[in-house]
Amino acid sequence: MSFTSICFLVFLAPTVLSIGTLCSNRSETSRIAAWNACNELELFLGPLVQSSGAMYEAAATNAWNLQNTEYKPTCIVFPRTAAHVQTAMVAIYTAESHYAVQAGSHSAMKGWNTVQDGVLIIFSNMKNVSYDAVKDSIVLEPGIHWEEAITALEPYGVAPVGGRVGGVGTGLFLGGGLSWLSPSQGYAADTFRELDVVLVTGELVTATATNEYSDLFRALKGGGNRFGIVTRYEVEPVHTGTKDNKSFFGGTIIYNSSAEALLKATARFVRDVDDPKAVLLASFINMFVEDELVPIYLVWPFYSGPELPTNIFGDFLSIPAVSSQLGPLSYFDVAGTLGLGDDRGYVQHFGASALVGDDDLFLDAFDHWNNFSVVYKDNFNTTTLAFTPVPDSQIQAGRAKGGNIISPPRGGFAAVQIYETFRAGINDIPQNVQQAIDVLFEQIPPSPGLPLYLNECDSQQEVFQSYGEYELLKNTYSKYDPGRFNVRHTQGPLGL
Ligand SMILES: Cc1cc2nc3c(=O)[nH]c(=O)nc-3n(C[C@H](O)[C@H](O)[C@H](O)COP(=O)(O)OP(=O)(O)OC[C@H]3O[C@@H](n4cnc5c(N)ncnc54)[C@H](O)[C@@H]3O)c2cc1C
Ligand SMILES: *[C@@H]1O[C@H](CO)[C@@H](O)[C@H](O)[C@H]1NC(C)=O
Ligand SMILES: *[C@@H]1O[C@H](CO)[C@@H](O)[C@H](O)[C@H]1NC(C)=O
Ligand SMILES: *[C@@H]1O[C@H](CO)[C@@H](O)[C@H](O)[C@H]1NC(C)=O
Ligand SMILES: *[C@@H]1O[C@H](CO)[C@@H](O)[C@H](O)[C@H]1NC(C)=O
Ligand SMILES: *[C@@H]1O[C@H](CO)[C@@H](O)[C@H](O)[C@H]1NC(C)=O
Ligand SMILES: *[C@@H]1O[C@H](CO)[C@@H](O)[C@H](O)[C@H]1NC(C)=O
Repeated sequence: MSFTSICFLVFLAPTVLSIGTLCSNRSETSRIAAWNACNELELFLGPLVQSSGAMYEAAATNAWNLQNTEYKPTCIVFPRTAAHVQTAMVAIYTAESHYAVQAGSHSAMKGWNTVQDGVLIIFSNMKNVSYDAVKDSIVLEPGIHWEEAITALEPYGVAPVGGRVGGVGTGLFLGGGLSWLSPSQGYAADTFRELDVVLVTGELVTATATNEYSDLFRALKGGGNRFGIVTRYEVEPVHTGTKDNKSFFGGTIIYNSSAEALLKATARFVRDVDDPKAVLLASFINMFVEDELVPIYLVWPFYSGPELPTNIFGDFLSIPAVSSQLGPLSYFDVAGTLGLGDDRGYVQHFGASALVGDDDLFLDAFDHWNNFSVVYKDNFNTTTLAFTPVPDSQIQAGRAKGGNIISPPRGGFAAVQIYETFRAGINDIPQNVQQAIDVLFEQIPPSPGLPLYLNECDSQQEVFQSYGEYELLKNTYSKYDPGRFNVRHTQGPLGL
């Protein structure tokens, strides 16, 4: 009897798990484990588990990054409750199956929100959001997207500290989360009050800053998908006002040149500005139209107040722009500025660096990125170099709320995102381009001591190692997953 037929027998007898180990072919072993988990789950969850058909296809191809639509999960679980997630994890854990979790689907990292020969848990049936005025708390289920959450909460005049792009989801929390509200509130994850978490074994726990799971609570503020599956986020709201309360000022400025002046203005902002009411995103984009490089530099300045103070934003306002759309805005308007970011169908790639606000570092980073873009332009629709200032006020706000595991040093810096959208027809990143990207990371290294940003990294970057609390992160991981089930069965951040 061949190995294949032994393996086939195991499909028919899912309880004889140990026979799986007789199959020396590892992908065959994974397939059997996943089959066992899926068979079990179909028994318990019925139509909430799909392994083919329209619902399966739509979910399997839902990921934002094209690379992540090419995996074929053995089955997809659509939980409605935390108990369903527990059932799923018990089956996955018992069968030793690979698995993945998908919330808002916007991970750029290949393999982080889907799985081949494994169980995919997708949160499209868990999208509730509510505001409790008595507790002054927002509760979010993991399947909601930021635009939906902000729209639902706007009538109450509150907003979560969430993403800047509407189509993105709550996975953003677990990598930290950079919001328009971050300079005054901290990372999105700093606003956590209570998290319901399904551990790898299927156990459901509620973690807070002060209960017996306070270590887990902290690890989830930057630990990504490694520490369990969050089924409920209770977070502190920000009283941003309703739609008609135009208490912010700002918008979009578009430039088509003056890179040097813009880079210096951005570096200065990062170096000098520490006003929790001021927020900025500066995005340098090279578009490739036909074979022509078309530069488009976008700056989004916002201020919580009636105008953009010139001592903070004056440099940007005086650089000649192609267009400038600035005015009084509600927070609802601010949150809608960047749109949904939902265009699918292309390979997307992120990479991260982190820089202190030094002119030369910014100019150098641009130069390397620009040259890289030009040399490999045949691959790209766009390349982007984006700077998000993380001011000291943000770091202090996070510490005041109990601290996160990213734990950046005091003093401001910029999270630097290096981002490429590949051309239609390219279904994977060519090896020579990935090599050039890796060289680019060496050319734009993070300033000493600064953390890389998990939500904007390359899957192979050592993000956890760059965290201020890396040792604590590792210890907490060993405590909650001593068998290392998650790192053996789910793709995600390295370093544990
Ligand atoms: C267009 C665009 C705009 C962006 N803008 C911002 C921004 O303004 N600020 C910012 O900080 N980041 C931003 N990001 C990055 C974003 O934070 C990450 O892509 C984030 O991972 C997306 O979360 P998601 O829920 O949409 O994605 P998913 O791919 O569904 O999830 C991301 C990761 O988290 C894991 N995960 C999700 N939910 C859970 C859960 N409940 N329990 C355990 N693990 C879970 C997934 O397994 C996956 O590894 C942006 C990304 C894109 C593509
Ligand atoms: C392992 O099994 C898979 C699926 O049956 C097959 O495609 C692959 O070629 C096998 N690999 C080896 C090394 O035998
Ligand atoms: C979510 O909302 C639905 C519809 O309003 C409701 O039936 C369900 O009980 C809610 N779930 C939770 C966990 O609140
Ligand atoms: C508008 O929002 C600001 C800032 O949150 C707040 O101080 C003010 O009271 C709000 N005004 C109204 C009319 O809601
Ligand atoms: C920038 O845009 C202006 C029009 O607003 C145009 O005159 C100029 O040629 C453009 N410059 C570049 C480098 O594209
Ligand atoms: C980028 O390319 C230009 C033109 O080829 C070259 O002069 C410059 O030194 C390059 N910059 C870097 C940082 O490699
Ligand atoms: C290419 O980039 C342009 C500008 O950002 C965008 O409008 C267009 O949709 C992109 N096309 C692809 C194939 O990504």
